Formats: sequence, structure tokens, C-alpha cells
Amino acid sequence: MNNKTDKPDQKEADVDFSSLYLDEHNLPKIKSASELEKATTIINTKSLIGKEAVINGWVYGIRSSGKIMFLMVRDGSADIQVVVEKSQVTEEVWEDAQSLTNESSLQVKGLIKEDKRSPFGVEMQLTAIKVIQIAPEFPIGKKEHGPDFLLDNRHLWLRSQSQRAVMQIRDEIFWSITSFLREEGFVRFDTPIFQPVSCEDTSELFEVDYFGDKTYLTQSGQLYCEAAEFALGRTYDFGPVFRAEKSKTRKHLIEFWMMDAELPFAGLDELMDFEEAMLKRIVSDCLKNKAYELSILKRDISKLETVRDKKFIRHSHKEVIELLNSKFDAKLSELDDIGAPEEAMLSELYEVPVFIYDWPAEIKAFYMPKFKRPGENIERVRAVDLVASEGAGEIMGGAEREFNYNILLDELKKRKYKYEDYAWYMDLRKYGSIPHSGFGIGLERTVRWISGVAHIRETIPFPRMLNRLYP
Ligand code: 4AD
Ligand code: MG
Repeated sequence: MNNKTDKPDQKEADVDFSSLYLDEHNLPKIKSASELEKATTIINTKSLIGKEAVINGWVYGIRSSGKIMFLMVRDGSADIQVVVEKSQVTEEVWEDAQSLTNESSLQVKGLIKEDKRSPFGVEMQLTAIKVIQIAPEFPIGKKEHGPDFLLDNRHLWLRSQSQRAVMQIRDEIFWSITSFLREEGFVRFDTPIFQPVSCEDTSELFEVDYFGDKTYLTQSGQLYCEAAEFALGRTYDFGPVFRAEKSKTRKHLIEFWMMDAELPFAGLDELMDFEEAMLKRIVSDCLKNKAYELSILKRDISKLETVRDKKFIRHSHKEVIELLNSKFDAKLSELDDIGAPEEAMLSELYEVPVFIYDWPAEIKAFYMPKFKRPGENIERVRAVDLVASEGAGEIMGGAEREFNYNILLDELKKRKYKYEDYAWYMDLRKYGSIPHSGFGIGLERTVRWISGVAHIRETIPFPRMLNRLYP
């Protein structure tokens, strides 16, 4: 900071700006939106067969054969083929059409005709065109690009058909979860992102300097959602969470979106019933409303239909260990975590998601209630993870919450957590404590599973990963 003015210092420009300006030729051809006619969305043209329509959008494909041009135009709502016939338009319109390049922006007017071959059922016979901007050669073309190149150009890659399909599916899942929860009587409760407490593993916290004090970015809004349920009953949050995990796998992000839900007075069986119903609803909504996007991604729909229609599997952690040891000679011990290889084995055995409950306490979080099974010496917790089918891995994590004040206090002490940070959370066990359960679902893991894309980096608009913070 500059002491005299209290304004941020002006940094030296790191590039020569003068070389960055576009030529007059590349600048937009209109001055403002008022030069455009009122338009409809492409999706709406379905109901305008036989009528004239005006649409705005971007060209993403051009085929030309001398006297006729086919422009593929998208506006986000849908895509449409626009046919330009030299004999049917003025010379000026034909020349404007000829000047178009991929990703040029424009407004077109024309007659909407039925077209049985189009996935949207219509095409446009062009009569007028307003070019907004002619785009220079688009960096992302038809040829194969490596993942680093695509991720460096994520802001442009998002326009591709496959990435649009994934984002549409993400949107569907978001609304499916939100609508389901609303119908089930849940109240949305926005939990803070700056938190003094750790919800899951303390080693994965992002530390933030908060005006000289230390705080963290949230790993999960769960603890705050628990406070909410004592006031509002069934509650949930849905927002970004952060994990400083040094994992570089196809299912780990540093910043991702989680929905945390809390079910007052519920135990683990009710929790599993609820999670199963919600997941079936998500899959059903995607099959119903995103069939086109799933087909773009070449997703095997029959696998999702099975998930929608068949009952999920429920196994204790102990049963899973025994099952994998006997079927795959996995050599797992009773205290082992279920990682990617084990999740893949489960997917070989089952075509539906698998709930794994009653985990060894030492690999789970502080807030889960402990117990011992008769004849067993292992300390377990009433936790449940849901492993999705087709090797997609864990997408939901949940548990009953310890609601006895003294037992929870013991656990804080054992883990050396700072009591003063959790004093408010402990109050919940002092004033009208109740048995309760909850779970979190990772949005991107769910999108990855349903859309079938291999890597989680394609399931979030701008991925934050171990070695990626741009764009
Ligand atoms: O299993 P987790 O860590 O559970 C919790 O945070 C609980 N507090 C939730 C609750 O009970 N309210 O995380 C929940 C889910 C996982 O099942 C997974 O889908 C996702 O969050 N997740 C990740 N997604 C992407 N990248 C990561 N690094 C993730 N870590 C967890
Ligand atoms: Mg988990």
C-alpha cells in the first residue's frame, strides 16, 4: 500500500499493451444492443414453424457449397441450422454470410421450417443477417487438443458441444437436488465460508489471514447446518467448499461444491433411505430432461436406468472387507479405508450404488458417534458413505452426529481441537440436544458419474486443482 494515498500501488504493466489492441476490422460491427431487433431463443423456434423468427447467437460450424451455406448457430438454449441460399437473399446478405467464421456473433432473421433430421426438429431459412463480430481463428478446432491446452483455454473450451452438455447436466443436478429438498420440507441455510473450525480432516484446511487472525476456508457447512436444524428443522446448504488436499486424481478438486443436509431425529437407516430417494430422483430428472446432452456425451443410458429402477446395496464396512477379500483376494484389513481400487471392485460386483456403513472410527471425523459391535474389539462409528456404480467412487458421505455433550468433549480433547473454536457447537449438545443425522453430496463427483466424463476437471466451470488456478 502507498501510505500517502492509501490506494493500492500502481504496478508496472507486465506486457506491452500497445501490441494487444485489435484492428478496426476485428472490432464489433455494432455500437449497442439497440441496433438489434428483439429476438427469440432458439429453443422457442420449435413453436414457430411456418413463421418468421429472429435469433441471436454464435456460429460454430459452417458448410458451404457455392450457392448454399449451412450455418450451425447456438445461443445456449439450443442449436439450429441456418440455411443461406444465394438465390434467395440480397448480395449484401450473401457477402455478410460469406464473411462469417466460427465463433462469430450475429443476429439472423428467417423462416422457421420443420426439419426431421435436426435433434430440435427445425431449421431456419435465412432472409437477413446482422453480423456483430467476426471472430479471428478460434484456438479450439476440430483437431485433438491436449488437456493442458484445453484447460488453459477453459473460458473458450466451455463453448464446445461436450462441455456445454456437461454444464447442462450439472445445472439439472443442482436443480434436481434443490427441488427435491424443497419438496421434502428442507429450508436452505447459507453457511459461512470463513470458519474457525475444521469439519473433516484438519490436515486439509486452507488457512486464511483474517485481519491478523487465523481462520480457514470451509471444508463443509455441516457443523453450521447442525446449528440451523435446532432452529428450522430440516435444513441444507449448497455452496463451494475447499480442501487443501495434495491429491491429483480424476475425482479430486481443491474447490468443489457440496450440498450438506441435516435430518433432525433421524438415524442411519432413515438417512440411507433419504439419500437413496434423492439420488434416484437426480438420475430420473437427468434421464427425463437431459437425454439430448447424455446422447452428446455417448452415455450408456441403460446403466442409469438400472440405478433409477433397482434398489441400492447396503453393506457394513466389515462385510465389504470380507466380500472383497473373498471375491478378489484383496488382502484388506478390518481397519482399511475403501479407496479407488476397492470402489472399482464393488462396481464389478454391483450395477447399482453401494452404501457402506459402520466404519472404523480411526479413519472418520470427530463428530460421529462411536460404538462396538458385540464380539468385536474395533471402535466403529455410525457413518455411511455411498459408492456410486461404474467405478465412479464415493459421492456421498454422511453419519449420525454424536449428541452427548460429554462424549463429544472427550473426542475434542483426544484430537487436541481448540475448545474455544467449538464452544458454540458444543452448546448444541447442551440446550435440547437430539439424535440427528446428515450427509454431504459432492456436486462434481455426481456430475462426473452421471455424465460419464473421465475426469472431474470437466464437471466444474473453472477447475481449481493442485497445479491449476488459471483462468
Ligand atoms: O465425505 P465428505 O468429506 O463429508 C463431509 O464433508 C461431511 N461433513 C458432509 C456432511 O455430512 N454434511 O465430503 C462429502 C462429499 C464426498 O462424498 C464427495 O462427493 C465430495 O464431498 N468430495 C469431493 N469432491 C471433489 N473433490 C474433493 N477433493 C472432494 N472431497 C470430498
Ligand atoms: Mg467422505
